[in-house]
Amino acid sequence: MTFILLTSFLSFVLCSTSASPPNFVLLFADDLGFGDLGCFGHPSSLTPNLDRLAAGGLRFTDFYCTSPVCSPSRASLLTGRYQTRSGVFPGVLYPGSIGGLPLNETTIAEVLKPLGYATAAMGKWHLGLGANGTFLPTRQGFDQYLGIPYSHDMGPCHNLTCFPPDVKCFGFCDLGTVTVPLMHNEVIKQQPVDFLDLERAYSDFATNFIISSASKKQPFFLYYPSHHTHYPQYAGPGAAGRSLRGPFGDALMEMDNTIGNLMATLEKTGVINNTLVFFTADNGPELMRRARGGSAGLLKCGKGTTYEGGMREPAIAYWPGIIKSGVTHEIASTLDVLPTFAALAGAKLPPVFLDGVDMRDILFNQGKSKREAMMFYPIDPTEKYGLFAIRLGKYKAHFYTQGASHSSSTPDPDCPATASFKPHDPPLIFNLEDDPSENYPLSLTDQPHIQAVLEEILKVKADFEATMVFGQSQVSKGTDPALEPCCNPECSPKPSCCRC
Ligand SMILES: *[C@@H]1O[C@H](CO)[C@@H](O)[C@H](O)[C@H]1NC(C)=O
Ligand SMILES: *[C@@H]1O[C@H](CO)[C@@H](O)[C@H](O)[C@H]1NC(C)=O
Ligand SMILES: *[C@@H]1O[C@H](CO)[C@@H](O)[C@H](O)[C@H]1NC(C)=O
Ligand SMILES: *[C@@H]1O[C@H](CO)[C@@H](O)[C@H](O)[C@H]1NC(C)=O
Repeated sequence: MTFILLTSFLSFVLCSTSASPPNFVLLFADDLGFGDLGCFGHPSSLTPNLDRLAAGGLRFTDFYCTSPVCSPSRASLLTGRYQTRSGVFPGVLYPGSIGGLPLNETTIAEVLKPLGYATAAMGKWHLGLGANGTFLPTRQGFDQYLGIPYSHDMGPCHNLTCFPPDVKCFGFCDLGTVTVPLMHNEVIKQQPVDFLDLERAYSDFATNFIISSASKKQPFFLYYPSHHTHYPQYAGPGAAGRSLRGPFGDALMEMDNTIGNLMATLEKTGVINNTLVFFTADNGPELMRRARGGSAGLLKCGKGTTYEGGMREPAIAYWPGIIKSGVTHEIASTLDVLPTFAALAGAKLPPVFLDGVDMRDILFNQGKSKREAMMFYPIDPTEKYGLFAIRLGKYKAHFYTQGASHSSSTPDPDCPATASFKPHDPPLIFNLEDDPSENYPLSLTDQPHIQAVLEEILKVKADFEATMVFGQSQVSKGTDPALEPCCNPECSPKPSCCRC
């Protein structure tokens, strides 16, 4: 019975996709923790649009990104490969970085293009610019791009993020670099960017893209890596001062508003029932910002660490009529987005070593994950140390632990940078189902069956590491101030004259 239903359901999905390939909207929040959304239990966040997607779609409790910082995590999302393979490490790329996501890596956009998809990205790219825009989204399969190509604190932005204007600005940004640009495709449209109008610009860009694709009956892929809720938080007039949670809550609410606008456009253009909307985030909360830094909920530590708070993220899949509403506890990852979109579109997988697996069974049947393990690399992965931790089923083993400056200001002494690099032999093992907060390491002597668990983990680790070929580090190629984007390239003195 179940089998027949399943078969007819799958054939329905397959038929409907072969008739008209589905659209994909991929929403990616920045420095957003496991505990930050209303639908993941935050008491004062206002996220009505994401809550609606969670209520009508599938909410993941055990979803992971691949790095506790931005650029490597984004590289994995777009390629389905751990960042160690593409070389997007250690740490993150800067405005003047020489490297970027290598052009011979295949992004989701490049997987979908041969099938006739229209592709667009808006928001924070953070996979490089390079000389003459070598690494911009337009060189990586996206027809169009609107956004800031890196983090918005990578520039003297602190005067731009206050609303209303008489409110004192909070914190600091990078002062010695060009002001933060807004780029359209490969051209600087505005420098410095007007943060308070930015989300409106994104909503308009997305609306135009969806309307134009829908009117041509062209399938589309829209990637929206939001600047929110990364520090320094800002919000335009539609959200500033309107949440219950101060500046962080306002920024989150503004992101949620943009998602609401996107959903309204998908409905109005009549494509909503043929569109998979997927939401998640790049890494855990930046706890060093205290009340402005987001929340990992009950998970341990945050950004910069390989504890759960650094890499387990909220995730939601929404597709009315196709994905049933519910909750899944299966292990899944940003790595799995590329193979899943490719399977749904009927696209070929790139001929490379992929770490991602197809999530369709989880999405459509609330079935089992094809993913048995999740690997945890630190901010600065090295071949010498390899994996810092592995999750296999419900168990997680930490071979090395280290705090991070991003996770300072927490009462837990394991989180801040003062918690120095520490090898664990035997590894610290936690049962994440009984103890999701990683409070109580299991004892190999008191619980003999844990020895068998450890042996299995060591085998999975060895098998995985045997496949791992580290790519050349892109971040280590360094920076060149001449590569920083300047709307007025001949001006002087730089960087202060780069204003248009
Ligand atoms: C990309 O090129 C580099 C340098 O030649 C090479 O090491 C790497 O394996 C290539 N990556 C892919 C995915 O082909
Ligand atoms: C960038 O492009 C310009 C114009 O095509 C060219 O003159 C210049 O050499 C390029 N710069 C680099 C670093 O490739
Ligand atoms: C920020 O505003 C203050 C006061 O108006 C001004 O002195 C300062 O130069 C501004 N900084 C930047 C980076 O624009
Ligand atoms: C989507 O499907 C639902 C349920 O079948 C239907 O009520 C709704 O009108 C459809 N929406 C569009 C825009 O086609």
